[in-house]
Amino acid sequence: MPTVRVCFVCLGNICRSPTAEGVFRHLIEHASLGDAVEADSAGTAAYHSGEPPDRRATAAARARGITVGGAARQFKPPDWERFDYVLAMDRDNFEELQRGAPARHRDKLFLLRQFDPRSPKHASVPDPYYGGAEGFEEVLDLCEAACRGLIAHLRERHGL
Ligand code: 4NP
Repeated sequence: MPTVRVCFVCLGNICRSPTAEGVFRHLIEHASLGDAVEADSAGTAAYHSGEPPDRRATAAARARGITVGGAARQFKPPDWERFDYVLAMDRDNFEELQRGAPARHRDKLFLLRQFDPRSPKHASVPDPYYGGAEGFEEVLDLCEAACRGLIAHLRERHGL
C-alpha cells in the first residue's frame, strides 16, 4: 500500500499533467520511493479522454530519459477521496478544481509550482499546446523543479 497518492491535473491531460506524472515517477524511482508513493494524472476537461499523451510531450521527455504515457481521463469527484495531493498545473485548473472540491478535501489542492522554492507565488506551468517545441522543454524544466520540491515535502511531511 502506498503511503501517499498524488494526482497532477491540467486541462486536457495530454501535455502538462502526463509530463508532470512522468517526471515525478522518474524522480521517485531514482529515490527508491516507488513503493511509498502512487502517481496519476487527469484533466479538468474531457476533450481528449482516452487519447495518449501529445507526441511533442512524449518526444521531449524521451530525450531526457523520461517516460510519459497513459491515456487521458477527466478528473472526477471520487478522485477527491482517492488522492492525498491534487496538484493543479495552472490557476484556471486550480479554480476549476476548487469549485468542485468537497469542503473536507479542499486542503488537498495545491498549485504544483508552490512546491518549487524558486518559483514566484501563484505561478503556473504554461500551456504548451498551441506553441512550439520550446514550450514542452519549459514544461519539463518547471515540472522537474516543482517535483523535486514536492518530493522533499513528502519526505518531511510523511517521513518517507
Ligand atoms: P494540457 O494541454 O492541458 O497541458 O493537456 C492542452 C491540451 C489540449 C487543449 C488545451 C491544452 N485543447 O484545447 O484541446
